[in-house]
Amino acid sequence: MTHRIAAIPGDGIGTAVTEAAMQVTLAAGAAVEFTTFPWSCDHYLQTGRMMPEDGLDTLRGFDAILLGAVGWPEKVADAVSLHGLLLPIRKAFVQYANIRPHRLLPGVKGPLRKEGFDILCIRENTEGEYCGAGGRVHQGTADEVAVETAIFTRKGVERILRFGFQQARARRGRLASVTKSNAQRFSMVFWDEVTARLAPEYPDVEVTSYHVDALCARMVMAPETLDVIVASNLFGDILTDLGAAIQGGLGYAASANLNPDRSAPSMFEPVHGSAPDIAHRGIANPIAAIWSAAMMLDHLGQTAPAARIMAAISSVTARGVGTVPGRERTETITAAILAALQQDSAR
Ligand code: IPM
Ligand code: MN
Repeated sequence: MTHRIAAIPGDGIGTAVTEAAMQVTLAAGAAVEFTTFPWSCDHYLQTGRMMPEDGLDTLRGFDAILLGAVGWPEKVADAVSLHGLLLPIRKAFVQYANIRPHRLLPGVKGPLRKEGFDILCIRENTEGEYCGAGGRVHQGTADEVAVETAIFTRKGVERILRFGFQQARARRGRLASVTKSNAQRFSMVFWDEVTARLAPEYPDVEVTSYHVDALCARMVMAPETLDVIVASNLFGDILTDLGAAIQGGLGYAASANLNPDRSAPSMFEPVHGSAPDIAHRGIANPIAAIWSAAMMLDHLGQTAPAARIMAAISSVTARGVGTVPGRERTETITAAILAALQQDSAR
């Protein structure tokens, strides 16, 4: 069966890395058909919208979404571009589990004097600090007030924790549940309680509750002690940039925005943004986007081409290609991965 994929390259380096990811996906023999949408900040400047009014309806008809990056603050305020494209997709399609692997690819050194860590960070992706509840009054006056309320629902917290327990069960059986319940005594204490209540249902998983500040230190000092991490939307956002850093940089950080119930398409994107400083210079590392495409194929059940892509990436980085930021051009790294795929299929 051929899967229909909506590609949204978006802004900045998003276009180049998505192009690379599409090429590699097809070369790996995946049964996919891409339809590309020009939704981006340029699209906003032309039409007044990041995506058409019926954009979500259009996307709903696809099996998955491959996204590059959204945002170009010089042209369109981030709060407008992100709330006009990326964030509504995550919410509307109930992509409640944002999963981000953090491990060193062969040949990539990373800033720590450590190897051998393999972390899967699971970030709640539809509510919490990103729920969008809030407002401003007396705007522009000395009496101005800004309120932004984080919302944690039993349904939302339970499903992301269950997802975390299940992922831990399928890996090394360790789950780190992250809060800040020593300071935030309502939502975070609630999260800790739900964690403790679910734990007996997963006796094979060793769950530990951490405060987010302590977990940051652990990710740097002892990342090898971590397996699966589950955190709220904002904490997960921050922790996964730290995760990207310890795995050598944002050029290697892949992600999946999963709708585990499969009631709507899931979305796959590199963690890095549009990187205006290096956009259109041809030096973006396409590996994060290509790895994200492999996660997409896995989710769609196309596990053989997904494995081929990961093997090709690893064989290329093991030779040192794509392991030093900016040293090779995007097209050079992509060509090396394509060549590795070809060699693999000739065997
Ligand atoms: C990410 C990004 C987004 C987020 C931004 C661009 C809104 O940082 O995917 O990690 O915070 O979710
Ligand atoms: Mn982020």
